[in-house]
This record gives sequence, C-alpha cells and structure tokens, in this order.
Amino acid sequence: MHPLQCVLRAQRCLRRGPLASVSWLLLRTCRAHSSVPSFVCPSPERQQEDGVWKDFSSRLATGPTFQDFLRSASVPPEQPSSSEVEDPPPYLTVDELLGRQRRVYLETYGCQMNVNDTEIAWSILQKSGYLRTSDLQEADVILLVTCSIREKAEQTIWNRLHQLKPLKSKRLRSRVPLRIGILGCMAERLKEEILNREKMVDILAGPDAYRDLPRLLAVAESGQQAANVLLSLDETYADVMPVQTSPSATSAFVSIMRGCDNMCSYCIVPFTRGRERSRPVASILEEVRKLSEQVLQLIHERDNICKQIHLPAQSGSSRVLEAMRRGYSREAYVELIQHIRESIPGVSLSSDFIAGFCGETEEDHLQTVSLLREVRYNIGFLFAYSMRQKTRAYHRLKDDIPEEVKLRRLEELITVFREEATKANKSFVGCTQLVLVEGPSKRSATDLCGRNDGNLKVIFADVEMEDATDSGLRVRAQPGDYVLVKITSASSQTLKGHVLCKTTLKDSTAYC
Ligand code: 5AD
Repeated sequence: MHPLQCVLRAQRCLRRGPLASVSWLLLRTCRAHSSVPSFVCPSPERQQEDGVWKDFSSRLATGPTFQDFLRSASVPPEQPSSSEVEDPPPYLTVDELLGRQRRVYLETYGCQMNVNDTEIAWSILQKSGYLRTSDLQEADVILLVTCSIREKAEQTIWNRLHQLKPLKSKRLRSRVPLRIGILGCMAERLKEEILNREKMVDILAGPDAYRDLPRLLAVAESGQQAANVLLSLDETYADVMPVQTSPSATSAFVSIMRGCDNMCSYCIVPFTRGRERSRPVASILEEVRKLSEQVLQLIHERDNICKQIHLPAQSGSSRVLEAMRRGYSREAYVELIQHIRESIPGVSLSSDFIAGFCGETEEDHLQTVSLLREVRYNIGFLFAYSMRQKTRAYHRLKDDIPEEVKLRRLEELITVFREEATKANKSFVGCTQLVLVEGPSKRSATDLCGRNDGNLKVIFADVEMEDATDSGLRVRAQPGDYVLVKITSASSQTLKGHVLCKTTLKDSTAYC
C-alpha cells in the first residue's frame, strides 16, 4: 500500500470519533519523504560518501554523550537555533514549537521497544529545547510511554493517570500549566477514547508520531487536546539518535526494526505498532559505532573504569582472517587500535591469537608476528589451533598444519609477545601506580597481589604503610583497598614494587 493511502485510511478511521476540541494531525505523516531538519544525521548514502568516521567524530563533538545519562540531573540546557526546528504549521510560530526550557518527565512502561521509543521521544524533545527532569514535582510535561499488550498493562496506566490528577489540579497558577501526554501503543489503540475518558490528558502520540511531539505540545499550550496516532509504513526514526534516558543504565538497546506483520491471533502489536519495517543497515551501524565511541570516551574519563580493552585479533594476516570469517582485515584492526589509543591515552591492550589455523602459510604466520610487534600488547592469550567438530572450518576447511608446526609457531608468537609486553611493562618502572588490592600473592605468602588501572598484576610486599585517608595511622592493605605502589621491576606478566600508602580512588592518580 502506498504511504498516502495508509494515511488516508487512518484519517477516515480517526474522523469517526467525536473530535470537536481535538486537533488531529492529518498531513504530516510521510515524514521520511519530507525535508529533514538540520539536527538529524545525513542520509546513509551521504554518510558513506563522506567517510563515516570523519563525519561521525565531528558530529560526536556536538551530540549527546554517555555523560548525559550518567548525570542523573537533567541534561544541560541546549538552546536550539531556529534552523534546528521544523517549519511551523500556519497556526504556530517557531517560538511556540520550542520547549523554552520546560521540563519533561518521561515514564516508560512495557517492552524494550518502549525503552527505545522513550529515548527517541526524548532525543526529539531535547533538540526542540526541552529539559529533562527525573523529579515529578518539577515537571512541566509528563509523558507516559505506554503498553497495550495485555489488559493489565493498560489498567496500570489508567491508575497512574488517577495518581497524577492532583498534580494537575493543584498546580500553582504562578507556574506554566502542567501537560500530560500518552505516548505509544495505548495512544494508538484507544485514540480519542483516552481524551474523552481522561480530560486531564493533553496529548496523544502513537508510536510513529514522536517527531510531531513538539507540535502536539505547542498545540496543547493553547489549552486544546492534540493527537497524532497515524501509523506509517516507513517511519524507523533512522536519523534520530536515541538518547539514553536512565541514569543507571548499564546497557542500551539498538532497535533494528519496527512494527510487526505476523498477526498472531492473540496479539494487538500489529495494530498498535503498524506494519513491519526495517531500519537501514547504515543507520544501525552508525548508532552502534556511536555507542562504542561513547564507551571509549567513558573509559577515558572515568577513574573507576579500568583502562584496558581486550580486542581479540586471532591473526595478523588478512587472508587468514577471511578464512576465519572474522569480518575485518589486518588494516581495519590496526586502524581501530590506533583510534582506541588516541581516545584512551595509556590504554592497556590485550588480545587472543590462534597459531596454525587451516591453510596458514609461513608468510601468514610472520604477519601475526609483525602484528604482535606493531601493537605491543600488555596482555596476551595465545593458542595452537585445534579443530572442533560442527564448526564451519570442520566442514569446509582442512586442518592441514602439522602439530609440530603449530607448536613451533605458537612458541614463536609467545616469545615475541613476551618481548614486546616486557618492553611495554618496563615503561612503568620508576612510576607510582594506583593499585586495587586483590589479596595474597599466589607465589609468596609475604606478598600481596593487586591490579593497576591497565589490569596488570602488581606484586608488592605485605607490610605496614601510612593510611593517607586517615593521617598518621599505620595499616596493612586489605582486599578492596586502593594503594599506591612504586614500581621497581617489570616482566611480561607482572609489575613489582613497594607499597607507599593506602589511598582512595578519588584522592589519587598514578604518576611517573
Ligand atoms: N582452536 C584454538 N583456539 C581457539 N579459540 C577458539 N576456538 C579455538 C580453536 N578451535 C581461542 C580464540 C578465542 C579464545 C577464547 O580461544 O583465540 O578468542
């Protein structure tokens, strides 16, 4: 079906209801075809042309970062320029479309898609000049991202609306009126029924209508109820970079498709989320890349995150990497390592390597030797290849490297790894390292073992030391303590030194 037909059908069904005071959106649906506001990413094709990385890092500087969600308070005020805001409809001014520092409180119910939708909705509102709050009392706009999957899910929302009622009725006249919105599946399923049943609801936005939130809220400012529950055939929000909304989030969802065509006989989803559509691959990759970039930035900035990255290379030969189906070349791997080193100065790197994979030539092996030299890993895990049943290699390739050759190559890799790691670790000699104490050393009862910020093992004598956090006190290090250790020697596996004092993560950083 053509998108426009879908829109028209939706209009017809919307018009059946009593919509006297409701401003329904009729036209702004096929957004993917209309002009793209300047805050969104360029089209996937453009990204590829321009070189994704260059474009990506320049936009990263201005985009939201993990810091935004780590700070539990609202995101710092962002002043949208009028070029970032869409052209207003004839009945609104550009200024009215802006958030003007109003504070939005978002509450998410239901599935992971709703978590992602909340991030999309917030991304759109943030760009329009809204602020975020996690304090209900502070909110100027309360948005519930709702679920319709079962009766109980909807009942929860009705109950929540009753709870919110006093906030609205007791709102001080000195403040801007509180606006309440129902977003997502329940808005889509019940449409105007919600507005009729709960007059306190100001706006409704279905899962494909989040781009319209600034307009809906602007209409609500004039005291009218506003709704957009049109479903789209092609809306994937591909160009909207979701902003993680939970301060304690330890994971992020990357949504790759929307809607559902399965029509399972019990399920409402095809009716609330519309037809199934996939997000363009380039836009998914871009988001994942951005997330990885944010992780690097976070590792760089945060003292409580260990500056170590494990990046299993498996081989230094692009030919072998292809046979292994690793999905990257030696060059791409080296480029990534360089990028990581630039992003996190002093990062400690570790890797896995396999010696003697099917068809590995002496030249391939030398390529791996040279990669070990080039990267100079701090920690390494090296293995001789052993064929495993059921694997693709078992069915398609020949385990043709004799055992003694595999072992000889493995020995060579281990030797080179050790030489390079020793050089890398020797650079710590004379430096003072912040060490997280783990416990007694396995090799000596009189020594303790801990880890530095690069996850390297640090061995030091278990002796009394000054507690810098409690002046004058003499203490022995306990597991979980942070201590400063002056490094006196280094091997490929460990650093050794003597303990200077007990400290805290906050008070102390390593120095040379
Ligand atoms: N033979 C040898 N090493 C293997 N690894 C995985 N499968 C094999 C195999 N069949 C190694 C890889 C991987 C690590 C966990 O174990 O290097 O990263």
